[in-house]
Amino acid sequence: IREAVACLREVVPGAAYEEAPVGGASYDAHGAPLTAATLDLARRADAVLLGAVGGPKWEPLDFSVRPERALLGLREALGLYANLRPAICQPALVSASSLRPEVVSGIDIMVVRELTGGIYFGKPRGVSKIDGERVGVNTLRYSESEIRRVAICAFEIARRRRKSLVSVDKANVLEATELWREVVTEVGRDYADVALSHMYVDNCAMQLVRNPKQFDVIVTTNLFGDILSDEAAMLTGSIGLLPSASLAGLGGRGGLYEPVHGSAPDIAGQGKANPLAAILSAAMLLRYSLNMVSEAGRIEEAVARVLGAGLRTPDIAGEGGAGTTLVGTQEMGERVRKEIKNL
Ligand code: IPM
Ligand code: MG
Repeated sequence: IREAVACLREVVPGAAYEEAPVGGASYDAHGAPLTAATLDLARRADAVLLGAVGGPKWEPLDFSVRPERALLGLREALGLYANLRPAICQPALVSASSLRPEVVSGIDIMVVRELTGGIYFGKPRGVSKIDGERVGVNTLRYSESEIRRVAICAFEIARRRRKSLVSVDKANVLEATELWREVVTEVGRDYADVALSHMYVDNCAMQLVRNPKQFDVIVTTNLFGDILSDEAAMLTGSIGLLPSASLAGLGGRGGLYEPVHGSAPDIAGQGKANPLAAILSAAMLLRYSLNMVSEAGRIEEAVARVLGAGLRTPDIAGEGGAGTTLVGTQEMGERVRKEIKNL
């Protein structure tokens, strides 16, 4: 995050930055993963850049104060119902994927995940004793307005890309996603220029590794999107490269931007983490919350250039090899900023 903020300062020198603890850091300082003060600051900001929130230290904590609750609390409180997770295979890294280069080269997928509904938030939920045994319950619930607004967002994004949208559901088994399919189809009537198709989630999981290039934009429920976006991420070679945006619709202020990866506690504090996902999240922030499209492009181009020049943090270093240089977090950030200055 430090490297990402430094990149932002480079392209938007006049912006004001404020910091607040969230997740484990907030729990340590205040006994709660998300305080009213942090939430208030997030509400007032034009955009929020979020660092990963957890680690083994906080795993034994009660469910209600785990770092993840902060993430879910922010999403819910800020109404961030549309989660954009692009999976782009950088040309310099085609060989970093576990799939064959010809399968992944050129992939450019945008997963639009519903983020404030579905089984993550549905009630009833919890574990209780029924007839002498423990029973766990979660509820998959979607209203048509929840489906419609995220579908509109996905169609709008598809319209600005290659005009193809795949809606992913389990309509053959789950009624709530049968409704999902119906509502997405209804919304599609307003987007005759976008080719809409539907796919069951199991098939989509398979198609993503079989032939990922068939996908342009994918729109899906909260849980399916959680799973499929990790799968799409891995196609690109490293989850350390993937940014995300969580929005209360397109064109509004106040989005939240975070790398798709977690906190990687195994390498914390060693200066080895790949800052590129955070830096690319900053670029998305400029594009979607501040409408600073050319500044976003400068950051993205700078990232492509440092990768093209062979700079690698350990997660994307692979076997190393000719033309590549192993660098740490700070040097990677500095090199991106140097390229930004040249652009
Ligand atoms: C994600 C994460 C979160 C989620 C966890 C940490 C709560 O996996 O953003 O994809 O499941 O949404
Ligand atoms: Mg996830």
